[in-house]
Amino acid sequence: MTAYEYETHEYDVVVVGAGGAGLRATLGMAEQGLRTACVTKVFPTRSHTVAAQGGIAASLSNMGPDNWQWHMYDTVKGSDWLGDTDAMEYLAREAPKAVYELEHYGVPFSRTEEGKIYQRPFGGHTTEFGEGPPVQRTCAAADRTGHAILHTLYGQSLKNNAEFFIEYFALDLLMDDDGKCQGVVCWKLDDGTIHVFKAKMTVLATGGYGRAYFSATSAHTCTGDGGGMVARQGLPLQDMEFVQFHPTGIYGSGCLITEGARGEGGYLTNSEGERFMERYAPHYKDLAPRDYVSRCMTIEIREGRGVGPNKDHIHLHLNHLPPEQLALRLPGISESAKIFAGVDLNKEPIPVLPTVHYNMGGIPTNYWGEVLNPTATDPDATVSGLMAVGEAGCASVHGANRLGSNSLIDLVVFGRAAAIRAGTVVDRGAPSPVLNQASLDAALARFDRFRHADGSTPTADLRLQMQKTMQEDAAVFRTDATLAEGVRKMTEIAAKLDDIKVTDRSLVWNTDLMETLELANLMPNALATIHGAHARTESRGAHAHEDHPTRDDKEWRKHTLAVVTGNKVKLDYRPVHLDPLTTEAEGGIALARIAPAERKF
Ligand code: FUM
Repeated sequence: MTAYEYETHEYDVVVVGAGGAGLRATLGMAEQGLRTACVTKVFPTRSHTVAAQGGIAASLSNMGPDNWQWHMYDTVKGSDWLGDTDAMEYLAREAPKAVYELEHYGVPFSRTEEGKIYQRPFGGHTTEFGEGPPVQRTCAAADRTGHAILHTLYGQSLKNNAEFFIEYFALDLLMDDDGKCQGVVCWKLDDGTIHVFKAKMTVLATGGYGRAYFSATSAHTCTGDGGGMVARQGLPLQDMEFVQFHPTGIYGSGCLITEGARGEGGYLTNSEGERFMERYAPHYKDLAPRDYVSRCMTIEIREGRGVGPNKDHIHLHLNHLPPEQLALRLPGISESAKIFAGVDLNKEPIPVLPTVHYNMGGIPTNYWGEVLNPTATDPDATVSGLMAVGEAGCASVHGANRLGSNSLIDLVVFGRAAAIRAGTVVDRGAPSPVLNQASLDAALARFDRFRHADGSTPTADLRLQMQKTMQEDAAVFRTDATLAEGVRKMTEIAAKLDDIKVTDRSLVWNTDLMETLELANLMPNALATIHGAHARTESRGAHAHEDHPTRDDKEWRKHTLAVVTGNKVKLDYRPVHLDPLTTEAEGGIALARIAPAERKF
């Protein structure tokens, strides 16, 4: 029996996280009259989606010819043929609808002369199934698109009577003995009280785990909390070895400079002033996909053509563009360049470096957001009462590499899909689940252990050890040796969670304890990443393995599943979904179009 008192709340749906996916799911649920709670550890409009700059991909054709089949093709190729084909079709087909809905909800998109939504080019988005020139597919609100979407979705959710529980930290999922999710138990940060949210459907929208690395564009709140909670239930994480490095993090701070900068005409140079991307990607140049551009930049630096006194970064030029264009289309990064690099981008290039930006892997789901727990007989078996959306989830539409601006569209398409699905599977009249007390007791006992942890390793020290190890050993390029070393070090580091030292024992605004709980969530994400990468003896998308430099579809066109228990990881695999939702005769894409091929740019 738990020593903690708690308050119980009952809802049809509880959404954990209030970024783009969490808010879109919350809004969709509330619009259908489902009693919906959204619990979030930060104020909704401070969720990490607020930092999304360049835009949201959808084939609106506002700036030239485009269609969802081209978008789907680019996504399949971008994923290096690891994405699930049904989910990728769903994403590309639903994207225009999802963007027009955003427009109608009130997102203040930038406009063309005719008043249509403005769209810019982004890496890897093309015409004519990759044969034509880059397409302008990325819908933008200047370079503050995530900010605009987040504020709009929060306002709409309030209007539709969704209830928000703000600065509540989700501790653990509550599961019954049959493996059905019953809700989540949370710690209210500002007064220290404990809250049990019982729900017929729990939706994890907790974002990525970029903070497992030392240098990331992700907010400090991106600590893989959903992945941590799922791992503690013995459920798998999927494709975690695929970590995206964004080509243009500001050198030093890691702060994002949007790919929209290159979409607006920016370009990269090395120490010789050479526009080196022309050499690596003659067709798409600086607008090749991110995994490729990041590798090319890393090669330039390794071969001694980096810029700066230590020749350890690259220049991004925007100083040739008209100041009016920069002010209109890229006002946010004009400020960031000034603040974080001391650069006036009208006059000087910005120093940039590939920086951890996005996790392609996450909690496995189908394209309705339902969490998967594959069995020997059913690789698509679902967990009752549990969904995951956004960067926390893995639908899997990004496979081994995500195209820029496919993240915001993933958030809204799959947040919306989860709401559509919940509208059909949640029984509004059914009674709330009878709480499995043992599950709650276990969660609170764990919380109490961390609260009173009196080991010898301060949380900040252990976090730094993890971040440095991941940065060094699971980097843009990997080798058998670095990955084996990473596995060895991460196994030792994760074991030290048992020796953690928390100094503040209070329950009110205890950031020491919160950061410890976040570290405990980051750890299984990091372990799954390094183990999955070590096992995958091929190169695919963001996983560039120097000892196995080619893609091996025969052996490795499959999803990694990692079950993490303590500091141990058990790997398994599930097949990639190869079939689209519609046939060519039904207007879908021809299978021959999306057959695996070499990625050329
Ligand atoms: O470069 C950017 O604006 C980031 C976009 C994305 O990750 O989709």
